[in-house]
Parts: sequence; structure tokens; C-alpha cells
Amino acid sequence: MEISVLETEKKRIKPEDSKLGFGQFFTDHMFSMDYSEEKGWHDARIEPYSEISLLPAAMVFHYGQAIFEGLKAYRTPEGKIQLFRARDNFARFNRSAKGMCMPEIDVDFVMQALKKLILVEKNWVPGSDGTSLYIRPTMIATDSFLGVRASNTYRFFIILSPVAAYYAEGFNPLKIWVSTDHVRAVRGGVGEFKTAGNYAASLTAGTEAVEAGYAQVLWLDGIERKYIEEVGAMNIFFLMGDKLVTPELSGSILPGITRYSVIQLAQKWGITVSERKISIDELIEAEKAGELKEVFGSGTAAVISPVKEVRYGDKVIKIGDGTPGTLTMKLYNALTDIQYGKKEDTENWIEPI
Ligand code: PLP
Ligand code: COI
Repeated sequence: MEISVLETEKKRIKPEDSKLGFGQFFTDHMFSMDYSEEKGWHDARIEPYSEISLLPAAMVFHYGQAIFEGLKAYRTPEGKIQLFRARDNFARFNRSAKGMCMPEIDVDFVMQALKKLILVEKNWVPGSDGTSLYIRPTMIATDSFLGVRASNTYRFFIILSPVAAYYAEGFNPLKIWVSTDHVRAVRGGVGEFKTAGNYAASLTAGTEAVEAGYAQVLWLDGIERKYIEEVGAMNIFFLMGDKLVTPELSGSILPGITRYSVIQLAQKWGITVSERKISIDELIEAEKAGELKEVFGSGTAAVISPVKEVRYGDKVIKIGDGTPGTLTMKLYNALTDIQYGKKEDTENWIEPI
């Protein structure tokens, strides 16, 4: 499929790197294409970033068929631009598509489209420490129809946003809050897909956490309400004694690409990594026994985020002395060195643009 390019006549002023924050600014162009049963994916185009026109009956507004991805392009010290594990994100996008009864995309084609879009927007890729170009591929259901069924037509688009740290805390350790009243997802549901409704389902508890002075919610499983699952926008790891432990992929948590990367690096360094069920009680006991050495979250937006406190009801679990742990720092440095092209890509994770 050909990709047409329509460049905007009104280029925006790029914000300074120091003003970026997360997800507030968007580049001048986007990639879009449409799907219908008759034509499949068609009309692939790079076009000015602008409003999308949909009828009020468009199915995405009513029954929530919406999926997305989050990945990043990084500026290397030589000024080149590179992607981190982008194909893995598109593979996960296709798993989400299947899970939400939506059509899959051709990974090679969207990789080509993404690279073309980033080349059009190359001046938007920031270069200061900790900044990157966040990439948000999205698919929405566009049939104008109110019966409950899967839509027959869809729009796929990719938008780009120059970003800095996701959390206001930056790399300073976070406090996270275990929700006892709400659950995010259940096994057999859609928790393992990156679909918009999972985030909508997290907002009430997220607001409670923020009101109580915590950055995000640490979710427990939706059935026994006992086993740790993940945090609002990241997976979670615990260094217990000398073992790195993370919740197993239960079907209700997102299989994070950063999570896989952390596991791979830690194993390479000879650390035992265990993917298993961890109950909140085990965490409390581990802290009492002095075994809970480090806690951190992993995610594209969150990178590696150290955690200094977990609150569960009236119990406060404090981690270490409140500063990022040694392994947390080592993982952060190793991962970002590869992402930013400061060290050799020993894992074959990088795709240059
Ligand atoms: N869990 C949730 C709910 C997320 O939104 C994210 C972010 O994408 C993650 C985990 C981490 O996934 P990844 O490392 O692929 O960014
Ligand atoms: C990501 O890390 O890419 C995410 O999607 C998290 C988020 C901002 C929802």
C-alpha cells in the first residue's frame, strides 16, 4: 500500500525540552488509515495532526472498541533516531485487536509507516536527558450503529508527542496505594489487552490514591483480592532477598515490554527472576523480615520507577531508606543506555530510523 503525504502549512512551535512533561504536546503530522470489510486497510496517509470527524453514533463512543500502544523513539548522542522493541509493541497491538474483536494490522507495513512519519517529524525528537518521542498507535471503531456487535469499520492512527518523565517525581521514588475497594480487571476479561476501558476502570481508585498523596494504584487480583497484579501504568518488581520477583502474567495484567526487558537483563546478570503469585500479605511479611530490599515499576512511559512506600489499608510498607536501590539504578542505567544508544544493543532491541 502507498502512503500519501500531505504536509501542513501551519507548523507549530516546538516547546523547549524543559517544558515537555508527559503527553501535552503533539507534532505537526499523524499517520492514519481506514478499514472496511470490503477494502481491508486502505487510504494510508500522513496528514496534518487535526481533529477526527466522527458521527455521534460511532461505535467507539458507545461500546468502547478502542485499543492503543505506547512506545518511544530516542535521540542518540550522535543525533540519530532509534526505536526500542517497536515490533513487540505492534505484536501486542495485534493481540489487543484480536481480544477486542478488531482487525489486525500488518506489522511490517505499520513499521514502515511509523518510520516515514518520524522522518517527517524528525526535528520533534527531543535530545535532552530523559526526553524522547512518545508514539501512540491507536485503533477505534467507526461504524455508525447502536446495536451491540463488533464494528465493521475502523480508523487506525499514530500520533507523536515529545515527552520527558511521566511522573512529577521524575526518578525520585514513588509512593503507591493498594486499592481495597476497586479492581481493574479479572482473568478471562480484557485486562491483558491495552484497551481504553481498562484505564477508565482505573480512574476512581486512581483519584482516591492521588487524594491520599500517592502517585498511582497498585492493583490486587479481582477474584481473591489478595495477589499483586500491576500498577496503573507499569508492571511491578520486588527484590526479595537476592531474588527478583514479579507477578506472573495472570491474564488480567498487561504483558509489559519493559517487564520482559527487565527480566532478560536481570537473568543475564545471574539474578534469579521468579514470575509467580505474590500476595500482599507476603509483601508485608517480607518487609517485617527485612527481606524486601527494593521495589520498582517498569513501563515505557514510567521507564524504571523506584517505589519507596506501599500503602495497604492502615499498613504502610516502607522500602529501604527511601532512595532508589542499587539494582533499580543498575536496571535503569542499562535499559536507558541501550534505548538512547549510549551502549551497544546486546539484546537486539533497537531499530534505527
Ligand atoms: N501495565 C499497564 C497497565 C500499562 O499501561 C503499561 C504501559 O504501557 C505497562 C504495564 C507497561 O508496559 P510496557 O512496558 O510495555 O510499556
Ligand atoms: C505507556 O507506558 O506507554 C503507557 O501506555 C502508560 C500510559 C501513559 C497509559
